[in-house]
Amino acid sequence: MGLVESVVGSSSTAARKRSEWVWSCCCLMGGFLVLLLLLTCIGAVLWLVFRPHSPILSLQALNITSLTVKQMTHGKTAANESSALLSMNSTLVFSATNTNRFSVSYSAMILNATYQDVAVGHALVAALKQESNSKVMVSTVLIVDKVNLNQFTGIDILKDATNDHLPLNLTGIVDTHVHTFGFKTPQLQIELRCAIVLRYHELQLASKQCGTNVVH
Ligand SMILES: *[C@@H]1O[C@H](CO)[C@@H](O)[C@H](O)[C@H]1NC(C)=O
Ligand SMILES: *[C@@H]1O[C@H](CO)[C@@H](O)[C@H](O)[C@H]1NC(C)=O
Ligand SMILES: *[C@@H]1O[C@H](CO)[C@@H](O)[C@H](O)[C@H]1NC(C)=O
Ligand SMILES: *[C@@H]1O[C@H](CO)[C@@H](O)[C@H](O)[C@H]1NC(C)=O
Ligand SMILES: *[C@@H]1O[C@H](CO)[C@@H](O)[C@H](O)[C@H]1NC(C)=O
Repeated sequence: MGLVESVVGSSSTAARKRSEWVWSCCCLMGGFLVLLLLLTCIGAVLWLVFRPHSPILSLQALNITSLTVKQMTHGKTAANESSALLSMNSTLVFSATNTNRFSVSYSAMILNATYQDVAVGHALVAALKQESNSKVMVSTVLIVDKVNLNQFTGIDILKDATNDHLPLNLTGIVDTHVHTFGFKTPQLQIELRCAIVLRYHELQLASKQCGTNVVH
């Protein structure tokens, strides 16, 4: 009986010791977990406050000084074989909106103008650095210099000009960097796409729809 008791007794002290050990280990682990949770929370808050946002680019205005679509007929009779010559002189104003708490730098951007996937001209937007939480305007000149559109596209653009509804696409890719606490974040490549419609006779912008998306 006594033997059994002492065995039970010693096993219960061992169990208590073990439970104490488990308890302090639990305490340590618990403390560590709480600390980890706290750090995660702080990290999440910092991330929410300071995380880099992609800047937003858009077309604000387009001033057309000249726009002509000329029919070019080859031969004497073939009304079908008309190609067209497109010329345009315009000023484009883009806006860049930086919602970051840091400044953003942009590389220069080549903006391609296309009509039905045919490149008709390009504009160069200069590199710039933008302050935190700001919106800036940059302007550039788009010149289309007597671009020959073949008989198929030519017929379409002649129709569009007559209908006073001439659509063009503008596409450009720009490299951006957010400057966080004095160092540059990895480059973010942004694509700007605008679908615009011009009023041929009034030399005005009828509509514009722009979107930016992150390429990588
Ligand atoms: C565009 O035209 C408008 C009115 O015609 C003028 O107020 C504006 O300054 C022009 N913008 C540019 C960039 O030429
Ligand atoms: C022009 O093309 C249309 C269809 O493509 C054809 O029906 C018409 O006869 C053509 N006209 C001339 C003058 O070639
Ligand atoms: C485009 O228009 C501007 C303003 O009218 C003018 O100064 C410039 O010479 C024109 N450029 C071309 C290539 O026609
Ligand atoms: C502009 O791009 C869109 C989408 O890629 C296309 O569906 C449309 O035909 C293009 N318009 C012109 C005028 O090139
Ligand atoms: C613009 O055109 C140039 C030359 O054709 C081409 O290298 C570039 O990739 C084009 N950019 C975009 C955004 O399509």
